[in-house]
Amino acid sequence: VNLTFTSPADHGLLQALKLVKSPGVAIEFGMGTGRNLRECAKKGFDCTGYDVNDWVVEQVREQFDKYGIRAKVLNQDVLDINFQRSSLTVAIVGTTIFWPKSIVESFLKKLWVAIKPNGILHIEFATPKDGTHKSEFLEYMCAPIPGSPNSYCHSSVYCGYCDEHPGVLGASYWQYSEIVGLLNRLGKWQSIARKVDDWHQVFTDGSTLFRSFDRVTVKKVS
Ligand SMILES: C[S@@+](CC[C@H](N)C(=O)[O-])C[C@H]1O[C@@H](n2cnc3c(N)ncnc32)[C@H](O)[C@@H]1O
Repeated sequence: VNLTFTSPADHGLLQALKLVKSPGVAIEFGMGTGRNLRECAKKGFDCTGYDVNDWVVEQVREQFDKYGIRAKVLNQDVLDINFQRSSLTVAIVGTTIFWPKSIVESFLKKLWVAIKPNGILHIEFATPKDGTHKSEFLEYMCAPIPGSPNSYCHSSVYCGYCDEHPGVLGASYWQYSEIVGLLNRLGKWQSIARKVDDWHQVFTDGSTLFRSFDRVTVKKVS
């Protein structure tokens, strides 16, 4: 089943939102369908969603208008954001699948400082089983990064894939033990939820792609 604006928000995020006593600032980095941010807006958070894809931004704005959802929807590369210390109650990250592991780590290190104590971090990772791990894009247009397993850097000067999918710097695929290691390097955290979602993505031409995402939700412990 493909995800759309009306698909439910992620299980872990819904669990986490139940724990937040007073809504603050919620940001989604790479909002895609906007279904996670929509849930934060409904709960009264001051919401901003970023995406670098024009079409995505247009669609989410249209849907938010249609359903009366109040949120800022910005067309901006999340790697250009300057974070303010302890300013975020909820941070949702949907971009890791397009980045090599080193960029995921440097982005999360900056983001962690911006999350308030007891704030929520919800991240979507691709697992090594994800169908894109066997894609032609990865095989012909990316280079594996030495010493960093399942981490790839986009290497081609011309890339038709990236013209249609801006923001793609490569790819990374994570075992859960690596995700735990990464989070431990950020600081102290407590797990709220973890869910591995496997499904078949269906394209307009009828072809399918197996997807496998590990979605983790943690609370920052002060
Ligand atoms: C996998 S989707 C997120 C899906 C979302 N969690 C959902 O359920 O709909 C990732 C999104 O991140 C966007 N993206 C990728 N790199 C980005 C970047 N550097 N800055 C902003 N958005 C980016 C892509 O355009 C894409 O829409």
